[in-house]
Amino acid sequence: MISKNHIFFSLIFTSFFTFKSSNASSAPNSVSFLLACGSRAAATDASGRKWVPDSKFLTNSENSITATAQSQDPSLPSSIPYMTARIFTSSSTYTFPVSPPNRHWVRFHFYPSSYSKFNTSAAYLSVISNGFTLLKNFSASITSQALTQAYIIKEFSLNPIQSSSLNLTITPKTGAVAFVNGIEVISMPEIFQPGIMVGFSDQSIDTKNYTLQTMFRLNVGGQYIPSTSDSGLSRIWYDDSPYLYGAALGITSEAEKNVTIRYPSNLPEYIAPVDVYRTARTMGPTAKLNLNYNLTWVFQVDANFTYLVRLHFCEFQLSRTNQRAFDIFINNQTAQLAADVLAWADSKKGVPVYKDFAVYVGEGNGGEELWVALHPSVSMKPEFYDAILNGLEIFKVNDTSGNLAGPNPVPSGLQKKEQEPRSFAQSKSSYLGAIIGGVFSGLVGFGLLVGVLVFLNSKKCKTGGGKKSNPSGWLPLYRRSQSFGTKSTISGKSSGSSQISTLGGGLCRHFSLSEIKYATNSFAESVVIGVGGFGKVYRGIIDGGVEVAIKRSNPSSEQGVHEFQTEIDLLSKLRHRHLVSLIGACEEEEEMILVYDYMANGTLREHLYKSQKPPLSWKQRLEICIGAARGLHYLHTGAKYTIIHRDVKTTNILLDEKWVAKVSDFGLSRTGPTLSQTHVTTVVKGSFGYLDPEYFRRQQLTDKSDVYSFGVVLFEVLCGRSVLNPSLPKDQVSLVDWALFNDRNGTIDTIIDHHIKAETSHECLNKFVETAVKCLSDQGIERPSMGSVLWNLEYALQLQDNPDGPKVVAEQKANDAFAMQSKLLSFEEEGEETEDSTNAIFSEIVNPRGR
Ligand SMILES: *[C@@H]1O[C@H](CO)[C@@H](O)[C@H](O)[C@H]1NC(C)=O
Ligand SMILES: *[C@@H]1O[C@H](CO)[C@@H](O)[C@H](O)[C@H]1NC(C)=O
Ligand SMILES: *[C@@H]1O[C@H](CO)[C@@H](O)[C@H](O)[C@H]1NC(C)=O
Ligand SMILES: *[C@@H]1O[C@H](CO)[C@@H](O)[C@H](O)[C@H]1NC(C)=O
Ligand SMILES: *[C@@H]1O[C@H](CO)[C@@H](O)[C@H](O)[C@H]1NC(C)=O
Ligand SMILES: *[C@@H]1O[C@H](CO)[C@@H](O)[C@H](O)[C@H]1NC(C)=O
Ligand SMILES: *[C@@H]1O[C@H](CO)[C@@H](O)[C@H](O)[C@H]1NC(C)=O
Ligand SMILES: *[C@@H]1O[C@H](CO)[C@@H](O)[C@H](O)[C@H]1NC(C)=O
Ligand SMILES: *[C@@H]1O[C@H](CO)[C@@H](O)[C@H](O)[C@H]1NC(C)=O
Repeated sequence: MISKNHIFFSLIFTSFFTFKSSNASSAPNSVSFLLACGSRAAATDASGRKWVPDSKFLTNSENSITATAQSQDPSLPSSIPYMTARIFTSSSTYTFPVSPPNRHWVRFHFYPSSYSKFNTSAAYLSVISNGFTLLKNFSASITSQALTQAYIIKEFSLNPIQSSSLNLTITPKTGAVAFVNGIEVISMPEIFQPGIMVGFSDQSIDTKNYTLQTMFRLNVGGQYIPSTSDSGLSRIWYDDSPYLYGAALGITSEAEKNVTIRYPSNLPEYIAPVDVYRTARTMGPTAKLNLNYNLTWVFQVDANFTYLVRLHFCEFQLSRTNQRAFDIFINNQTAQLAADVLAWADSKKGVPVYKDFAVYVGEGNGGEELWVALHPSVSMKPEFYDAILNGLEIFKVNDTSGNLAGPNPVPSGLQKKEQEPRSFAQSKSSYLGAIIGGVFSGLVGFGLLVGVLVFLNSKKCKTGGGKKSNPSGWLPLYRRSQSFGTKSTISGKSSGSSQISTLGGGLCRHFSLSEIKYATNSFAESVVIGVGGFGKVYRGIIDGGVEVAIKRSNPSSEQGVHEFQTEIDLLSKLRHRHLVSLIGACEEEEEMILVYDYMANGTLREHLYKSQKPPLSWKQRLEICIGAARGLHYLHTGAKYTIIHRDVKTTNILLDEKWVAKVSDFGLSRTGPTLSQTHVTTVVKGSFGYLDPEYFRRQQLTDKSDVYSFGVVLFEVLCGRSVLNPSLPKDQVSLVDWALFNDRNGTIDTIIDHHIKAETSHECLNKFVETAVKCLSDQGIERPSMGSVLWNLEYALQLQDNPDGPKVVAEQKANDAFAMQSKLLSFEEEGEETEDSTNAIFSEIVNPRGR
């Protein structure tokens, strides 16, 4: 036994010799074990890392068997180590020879696919190492469903070890099995330091002997960094945008090429790679806006644990202290007042710094959250009211009993429904549908974006040639949770509808048909206020005086009862100031009726042209556009299910009695059972002139299709004419063509609605037109996101009030800073591009059917 081990150890050390020598400075005696569990031979993964079989590390291998996954999910970054697994029937221990007193990364890789020999949904495991419980009752299957990703990585940093062997004991739950696909054990330098307890500035936690679990690791304002591009510690850094709270996204920026990032002597390069420090997210150029919001990230975490929050900073734009000073809040408590990155970095531009804070998260009501928020420091009166963040890491620290395990996240009911009838093995595309289609409720666990991001990366390589096998009908993106709902998820199978109904339950009021008849005077033609693809819309009175809009489905509509029901449950949960709220529904005698808030001022279109109504002022128009943009932005990114409106036009933007714009008619257009032919025809006809040319050409619907239509709306509002007017000379028939032609010729002011012409300021108009033109880019990938459109319209409004630019910007002394900020405002900034291409690439993955 001893001699066998000996031979084997020397083998391992030889094979990792290169690693040892190249990293000798950062970690003496470093060891690195990458085990492809259940594999028979060493192999190299797609990024060039070498993985070895695990059997020699296993002390009691008789308790386990090996298995091979039956299908390879397309989102897997590599077949190694995911395609093979070791299945444990009882407790087993992996032993690794290590050299004390180092810290070690321990990473577990799980791929809960189908294996011929066992059922992953029945697998629950615990992992104990050197007295710490890393995982307990962990179900990779439930976690992957809840996070809607194909595989899961769990990363831990084990406390400095005193012995020369590191043991990982894997125990299946009684009566169940356990499985694991890959294990990494890699020695690492001590990167943790005492962190100040937020709210108790005199207290800190000394993490020296602690074991920590990586919850989130973000390259703020930058891109995904794969483990092979990390600065020596094989970490993965993710994009931060899915975690941003609300619509206030700030702006992303990157250091100029001539700025070098210089690590100070007390900050080794392995703390974070250069790419983290070269990119940042800041609040934006407009002091007035910045003072009114917090740049906030929100994370779902497990209750009853302390978290170490590490913020990475690097000032690469400004060069004097107190130019940018800000306050840092963690969970609504002040973590740091008047943070000044340059002051921390000895007034040196391009010098990274980081700050650690610790915060205890107790039990809240349901979802436990960790908030990180930045706000300009008013008390310091800095030159710019702005804030900056370059990187963010959140680690969970062990509790007093040495435990790090939290409960499994809970997949939403929708997901269960989606996945129950299908076995994962059925087909690649159905599994893909399940991944993309899932909607999740608890964003717990590191590696959340793994599946998604890697998938994107692999897609990026195949330029343009998107796969067209996926049956999903539309492609929603939900920013906060990064889950992806498909049409099929929401309309669902009939078997699941009742389950969904109960979810929507309390929010949606049920009307009887007699109530509806009473409210509309038995559907009197005199109270018809509109006719749409779905049927007629009536004005009604309920509860003895409340005005409502009642939409009655056309009896010939092919919309199924169950789809109708699920749609109601979805819509009744959407509440936003700029969306028309669904009040309730009636489903009786084959009638399908929806009841909405009544919008006293009707549609936007009737206030623009072809009506007797007084024209809206320019500022009113701007405010309406901003409101509608907010509503759409919420649909795209803020709601639990991301929704592509698909029919954005001036008749779907309604105005209440206070002229607040509300987007209406969302969701319904895509609920047909199979996006039936009639239905699609209706949409195409009804919205001609607004239709995204790319969607038309490629039959692929993305949120950028809405952006295009919104660009048409912007010109309609500016020019006060219909989008298609056949009575005009040929070159003017299409508003879009005419507006773009005039924009290119610099004659846009000749086509503005004469009612508002005198009112528009030149600067505001430029910004507005620039935004609209960008929305109309031929390629979805070149169009801004709705968030970006919103930001620019708000900026345009400010320019209208103050043509020299918002005051504080004008007062800025430093010209270079001004130039930098103006540059950031334009759409060409890097971060924006990334985000946009991400979305666009998604559209290639999911190809709508039936159209
Ligand atoms: C796997 O196990 C789960 C839960 O134990 C069960 O619901 C499911 O039907 C099983 N699947 C297969 C293919 O046996
Ligand atoms: C790890 O396991 C081996 C063999 O089972 C044992 O000899 C060793 O003491 C264990 N190490 C620790 C730190 O528990
Ligand atoms: C860490 O553990 C070592 C050995 O058990 C002990 O000597 C040391 O005091 C501990 N340090 C802290 C800060 O608890
Ligand atoms: C870096 O380049 C920018 C523009 O390219 C220029 O404005 C700035 O002065 C340069 N900075 C240095 C330190 O050379
Ligand atoms: C958190 O701690 C409280 C009080 O000790 C306990 O009631 C609760 O169950 C714990 N929650 C979790 C998720 O462990
Ligand atoms: C912080 O405050 C916001 C707004 O008041 C609240 O919604 C949120 O739940 C708070 N966050 C935490 C973690 O307490
Ligand atoms: C920013 O967050 C802090 C801490 O939660 C809060 O006190 C403050 O009101 C917030 N400011 C804004 C403008 O939301
Ligand atoms: C984590 O574990 C270490 C070592 O067992 C212990 O000293 C420390 O108190 C634990 N941390 C917490 C927050 O209880
Ligand atoms: C284990 O996890 C499952 C799924 O999350 C849960 O239903 C069960 O109660 C857990 N069991 C224990 C002992 O915590």
